[in-house]
Amino acid sequence: MKKYDFDTVKPRYGVGSGKWNEVEKELGRDEKIVPFSVADMEFQIAPEIRDGLCDFIQNTILGYSNPTEKYKDSVKMWQKSMHEWEIDTDWILPSHGVVDAFFSAVKCYTKENEGVILLTPVYYPMYEAIENNNRKIISSELKIVNNRYEIDYADFERKCKDKNNTMFILCSPHNPSGRIWRSEELKKLGDICNQNNVIVISDEIHNDLIMPGHKHTSYATLGKEYENNSVILTSASKSFNIAGLQTSNVIIANKDLRDKFFKYIKTTTSNPKCNIIGYKGTEIAYNEGKEWLDECINIIYKNYQLIKKFMNENYPEIEIFDLESTYLMWMDFSKLGFNYKELEEMNKKEAKLFFDEGYVFGKEGECFERWNLATPTYTIEDALKRFKKVYDNNLKNK
Ligand SMILES: Cc1ncc(COP(=O)(O)O)c(C=O)c1O
Repeated sequence: MKKYDFDTVKPRYGVGSGKWNEVEKELGRDEKIVPFSVADMEFQIAPEIRDGLCDFIQNTILGYSNPTEKYKDSVKMWQKSMHEWEIDTDWILPSHGVVDAFFSAVKCYTKENEGVILLTPVYYPMYEAIENNNRKIISSELKIVNNRYEIDYADFERKCKDKNNTMFILCSPHNPSGRIWRSEELKKLGDICNQNNVIVISDEIHNDLIMPGHKHTSYATLGKEYENNSVILTSASKSFNIAGLQTSNVIIANKDLRDKFFKYIKTTTSNPKCNIIGYKGTEIAYNEGKEWLDECINIIYKNYQLIKKFMNENYPEIEIFDLESTYLMWMDFSKLGFNYKELEEMNKKEAKLFFDEGYVFGKEGECFERWNLATPTYTIEDALKRFKKVYDNNLKNK
């Protein structure tokens, strides 16, 4: 039986939500149109977090605060119980977000003009972290085999062997496709990196949103040699819809790498701490949020199955990638014969559908759409009606 409310949408106009602002710009304040773009959820946060934070604010002075033991204990407990990774308290450094952390990692561990490897297409701020800091993007393109991304190991190894390429940023699970990298795949990548002195930054922000029948392997649990050559980035933000608290966990087992990162942070900002509400929100989410998370995953999976069935029945040319993790559905529209600009126009202007257009994840994403499924099911049912009307019309007139 459902315990939580996954049916109420509260329009987020006027509170600084980028995706709702985009709807407003296009349509005015239309309360019926829910955007399916940027990766946060339209679900209300778990009542445990809401009530816990209210109680905390009522009883606490919001003064300067270091990361608390309770926050660190909750991160340790969560890693162990969810991801079978035993970590020491000292390994945890909070940061203002995972994006912030991988920007810092790029600057801390690489020099200008060095190459940073990505498996592309991938979450677009990773390109920015490299390019905006005058490093080189080294793209190893993923290959689509039976609607699934596969790694080209020969290409990846060639790129790691180039002495100028010193870092690999791994997105695990993978955004935008929701693909979970199997432990054998991670090992192969890791062995290549270890043999060539390429440091691995593993962004595991989507690691808790695992769909039925699948399992995420944390990169560091592959073995000591992998743990020692990596920086693992996690957060409660994606799993519990608390990204606005801007708190994430940088976990570094290797002392030299950790000291280097901490020194870098201390020299580039006067205040390496996060905020007191972020620590508390993370702590409550990890300690009390599991039941909410399980229910949330069920709704996401149901939404995925609904869209997949609809597409298979009505538009079999649209290729749907298996949703193994997270709440971002990746769909290839290229066989419909529209170019990516036409698709964007049809979606936004005609059907009032605000997806993340695939091209933002790299040129490999052109004519793909990413659909955020963390929204009440009825908003998806409404969207499918608009979708059918517009796509049938445009396909007829083609
Ligand atoms: C792979 C990945 N990393 C990082 C982030 C954002 O992290 P943060 O909000 O902690 O900066 C996202 C958000 O969608 C993401 O998909």
